[in-house]
Amino acid sequence: MGRTLVFGTSGQVGSALLELLGDQGIGIDEKTGDFLNPTSLLAALETHRPAQVINAAAYTAVDLAEKEEDKAHLINAVAPGVIAQWCAGHGVPFVHYSTDYVFEGSGVSARVESDPTGPLSAYGRTKLQGEKAVSEAQGKYGSKFLIFRTSWVYDAVGKNFFRTMLRLAKEKSELRIVSDQWGAPTYAPHLAAATLAALSSACAKPEFPSGVYHLCNQGVTNWFDFAQAIFAAARKRGESLQLEKAIPITTADYPTPAKRPLNSRLDLSKARTWLGVELPSWQAGLEQCCETFWRTHP
Ligand SMILES: NC(=O)c1ccc[n+]([C@@H]2O[C@H](COP(=O)([O-])OP(=O)(O)OC[C@H]3O[C@@H](n4cnc5c(N)ncnc54)[C@H](OP(=O)(O)O)[C@@H]3O)[C@@H](O)[C@H]2O)c1
Repeated sequence: MGRTLVFGTSGQVGSALLELLGDQGIGIDEKTGDFLNPTSLLAALETHRPAQVINAAAYTAVDLAEKEEDKAHLINAVAPGVIAQWCAGHGVPFVHYSTDYVFEGSGVSARVESDPTGPLSAYGRTKLQGEKAVSEAQGKYGSKFLIFRTSWVYDAVGKNFFRTMLRLAKEKSELRIVSDQWGAPTYAPHLAAATLAALSSACAKPEFPSGVYHLCNQGVTNWFDFAQAIFAAARKRGESLQLEKAIPITTADYPTPAKRPLNSRLDLSKARTWLGVELPSWQAGLEQCCETFWRTHP
């Protein structure tokens, strides 16, 4: 098997993928492949001629996307379509990521891949357009593609909910945190490992099982309970927190430019059945993230 080219290697999922791939990975970041300039992406693909391609780059600033939807569309839909077309034309398997934000999030049931979409935000719309661009570009040639819809990604490094909650709990005595959005926090290295396992299982099948799959850590929680688990882990490791009181609030009490789904529960059975992959529980993800964080920030 040849090498795997990963786009977006300065991001959470991209860097975790590159770390797992080691010298089997080729990392492309914004300097070597700019998603606002598809020609640079094609140049990277032509230079490296990879055996597999994974796109972890995306415009992920959910609130800012309300003001920059055109830019988000170029990065989240147009550029992935160009990569997908190159991969299809060269018979190269392609993995792309999408999001729970393609759903409108009513009710309490877990969504399956074929459920109707209905994004509430510009970010969600552009990610859905990305899914369509990838599957259409691939469809033209006979396809080998996997689109993984994931949710609430975080890591021990970078800018994310885990890091933000730790920082705020050291700075503030009181925090108000939304408790009516439900979903699964996903630890980036768990998603990266499952992605590589799924890709290798798809390649080993007589017919590549192209399509959209839900892939996130198992179980369900809300942001408030997730934050409480982060604070408990910090206290267990002897961190001195300023925080005295965490208050659960509703989404209506915390207006943001982009509307977010209340129900982000994703049904994971398709990936389990067809690709043989399953991530650990979100609690196991948090435990692993904490171990890494306190090992590297003693
Ligand atoms: N984060 C989440 O909670 C979440 C939830 C559901 C789905 N997802 C999806 O999961 C995938 C991975 O997300 P993530 O959390 O790893 O995102 P991330 O940490 O924000 O990383 C995204 C990467 O894309 C890069 N990027 C942005 N604009 C670019 C451009 N014009 N050219 C090249 N690269 C560009 C970023 O570079 P810079 O850092 O230099 O800007 C960054 O390295 C994405 O498809 C995302 O939509 C994420």
